[in-house]
Amino acid sequence: MTPVMKKKPTPKKATQAPKARSAKKRTPASAQNAKQKLYASLVVQLLSLLKDEHDLIANAANFSALLFNSLPNVNWAGFYFLQGEELVLGPFQGNPACVRIPLGKGVCGVAAQQCETIIVPNVHEFPGHIACDVASNAEIVVPLFDGERLLGVLDLDSPTIGRFDDQDAEGLNELVTVFVAHEEGLDR
Ligand code: SME
Repeated sequence: MTPVMKKKPTPKKATQAPKARSAKKRTPASAQNAKQKLYASLVVQLLSLLKDEHDLIANAANFSALLFNSLPNVNWAGFYFLQGEELVLGPFQGNPACVRIPLGKGVCGVAAQQCETIIVPNVHEFPGHIACDVASNAEIVVPLFDGERLLGVLDLDSPTIGRFDDQDAEGLNELVTVFVAHEEGLDR
């Protein structure tokens, strides 16, 4: 199989629901600062969780639990790892989810295929969205790279429409970069 290669070094503000996105309200500066602080604190907590441990499954499980329990209005947080031409469910927190997602299918498959972070303000407006939890209304998917090689995606769902924004994309990208850097050299 031809490996999926990283397309861009920085996340693209991607969505397939432009109407919902253009209706987005401006976030107050105080809320932006609070979110920035939250993500900065999550980096510290993640580094502490990863310290001295190099088991990918254990670390991914703790990472998903950290996100699920720290980020407000999130009903699912977890990983899908690339195996051949499909994503396979990894450690997560939330309701049971679909196990296999072909590249190009659903929000996860599109983010993986395009190698881009995708913010979906309203999943019901995203063509081909795969519904795993009826409570989910918004979603963000962040690809994971080992250098240029796609490893999989981090997926977060929320019951709140418009829950995820560019700050979440930035914060989550920083966290997955920390996570993958720690796992580097791991034989998978
Ligand atoms: N909604 C995702 C499927 C995974 S679940 O949300 C956990 C998608 O469309 O790819």
